[in-house]
Amino acid sequence: MLSGQILDAMITSCENAKTVLRQAAIDPSDRKTLNISMGATVAAELLGRTPEALSKAEARGRLPAPKTAANGRRFYTVEDLIAIREKLGIKMGKLPSERAVVIAVQNFKGGVSKSTTGKHLADYLALRGYRVLVVDCDPQASMSVMFDVNLEALVDETHTLSNFLSPRIDEADSLRKTIQKTAWPNIDICPANLGLQDTEWELTATIEEGPTAIAGAFRMLRIGLEEVRHDYDVVILDPPPAMGFLGVNTLTAADGLLIPVPARQLDYLSTIHFMQTCREAMDLVSKFDTSIDYGFIRVVCTMFQPNRTNEAQMLQVMEKTYAGQMLSTPILLSEEIKNAGLSMSSIYEINKPYGSHQTYTRCRDNLNMVFREIEKDICKQWPSRMAQVGTDRLTEAA
Ligand SMILES: Nc1ncnc2c1ncn2[C@@H]1O[C@H](COP(=O)(O)OP(=O)(O)O)[C@@H](O)[C@H]1O
Ligand SMILES: [Mg+2]
Repeated sequence: MLSGQILDAMITSCENAKTVLRQAAIDPSDRKTLNISMGATVAAELLGRTPEALSKAEARGRLPAPKTAANGRRFYTVEDLIAIREKLGIKMGKLPSERAVVIAVQNFKGGVSKSTTGKHLADYLALRGYRVLVVDCDPQASMSVMFDVNLEALVDETHTLSNFLSPRIDEADSLRKTIQKTAWPNIDICPANLGLQDTEWELTATIEEGPTAIAGAFRMLRIGLEEVRHDYDVVILDPPPAMGFLGVNTLTAADGLLIPVPARQLDYLSTIHFMQTCREAMDLVSKFDTSIDYGFIRVVCTMFQPNRTNEAQMLQVMEKTYAGQMLSTPILLSEEIKNAGLSMSSIYEINKPYGSHQTYTRCRDNLNMVFREIEKDICKQWPSRMAQVGTDRLTEAA
């Protein structure tokens, strides 16, 4: 048999099996549930209050009495935080008239912690009370997996990101149809699906069709987000590891760039290449009427091991050469992050540390410090919050 026929036969029988597989995969009983509970200190910190102020408000009846564990300790869930903010009038995020901030966590390479950083940033912002939309533009779908999206259910769906971004699909189609809920009350996701790779090719094929088609192909995501961004404070884009048309789409849609770079020479060098390509993409896109102007461009050193001399030296080089755009705290390499990743979670989502309580806390404090810097960059994009950024009072009641 010719190999073409062999492949045809395989495709036909696999296609037939697809329906059965999909039905088996849609089992709601094993979906991820959010099982976060935190003590009064962590809750108060996330609320921007002292634990004492929290107890006082509870004692005075301004807030309902907190839940208590078997050992008598107070604890809070993510839903509790949302309810407390509401009661105390703590307003996070933008005014309805302001624009959501779209952040691309982008670099060329795979394995530099793009998805891990993006996932932890999304969870951090959600814990702080912002409304977050995550858009997974990587056909490898690791972000979608971490949010436990049932990818099998998306195999044939028309309401997928790949369909929305495809230049062959009707313009009237809406990005809203691709949005799914996650286990988090304030994080939604446009999940990746297998078809994104085809979409990349279809977008690339517009090169044959001239400038108008190319301009359209660059801006599919940006246009799609215009319609849905009012419902969110922050949109986090997880781009594919290569700079194709999907990568240009995330660059074009973003208001801010977060570039993760490990302190390794190869990653440093490849990031120069990434920045050059970014620059070229900006010039190219601005020729077709859309100009990209980022509110912030930040580099974050990822997976950093401070006791390795070569990494410590590389970090110094990065601090000198990234011209003030580097976040002051690097994200440390951590077994906690790695192990949480193995169970498709962020460290914010796990209740039982992998190692000691101390290593877990160190890892969490490290991430909080990094993300607090980005949170400030985000708030600076909103005139209503700008004044609070300098005073470090991001959670003042509005
Ligand atoms: N700070 C970190 N500490 C430990 N492991 C990490 C850290 N950041 C990322 N990883 C691990 O490195 C691998 C690659 O990360 P990932 O976020 O998928 O990279 P990318 O999206 O850039 O391809 C994953 O297995 C992830 O768990
Ligand atoms: Mg990734």
